[in-house]
Amino acid sequence: MFIDMKILRLVLLSLASSHYRQSGAGDRCLTVVSAYGPNGSVEYPTFLETLQGVLEGAPTGDSIVLLGDFNAHVGNDSDTWRGVIGRNGPPDLNSSGILLLDFCASHSLSITNTMFKHKGAHQYTWYQDTLGRRSMIDLVVVSSDLRPHVLDTRVKRGAKLSTDHHLVVSWIRL
Ligand SMILES: *[C@@H]1O[C@H](CO)[C@@H](O)[C@H](O)[C@H]1NC(C)=O
Ligand SMILES: *[C@@H]1O[C@H](CO)[C@@H](O)[C@H](O)[C@H]1NC(C)=O
Ligand SMILES: *[C@@H]1O[C@H](CO)[C@@H](O)[C@H](O)[C@H]1NC(C)=O
Repeated sequence: MFIDMKILRLVLLSLASSHYRQSGAGDRCLTVVSAYGPNGSVEYPTFLETLQGVLEGAPTGDSIVLLGDFNAHVGNDSDTWRGVIGRNGPPDLNSSGILLLDFCASHSLSITNTMFKHKGAHQYTWYQDTLGRRSMIDLVVVSSDLRPHVLDTRVKRGAKLSTDHHLVVSWIRL
């Protein structure tokens, strides 16, 4: 199976005074991973193993951002998956979603799409207009240290994309 994953590392330097700069305080490093989850449940564990390898390879102390079409429904059971999802996502859940939730729980990752209250049009990231099917599958997932810095994650309608996915935007204040 071919697993498509791209990794980018961002080093953000704070604009604090030179006093702080010398100590390195305020600098933050982000490892950003763009991933594409497989459609089927058989391949999903291999996908997550690959993702785990990428996370283990990230420099210690880096904050993590995972972006992409995860091809999974993660539901809204925010009591069971405390810290992983919020209560605002669609209730749909499938087996790949459960694997993803479990993965996020064991790596202290939060699926930010589910944490902000939005109407459906700003939540569902994928549409198949002929059948009226819609899902939230394009996710912005962050490590728990970044979670308080995420101000919002939502679909931005109107962007002209030649795909059945909508543009997903996440605002993160560092
Ligand atoms: C994804 O899987 C579903 C059933 O699990 C199938 O109906 C659909 O055609 C598949 N989509 C792609 C793009 O392979
Ligand atoms: C889970 O849902 C996603 C989104 O609809 C779909 O692409 C995927 O095939 C589903 N996975 C399974 C194992 O049913
Ligand atoms: C999840 O969605 C279901 C169905 O819409 C709803 O009944 C339930 O209250 C939701 N759970 C939470 C924690 O909001």
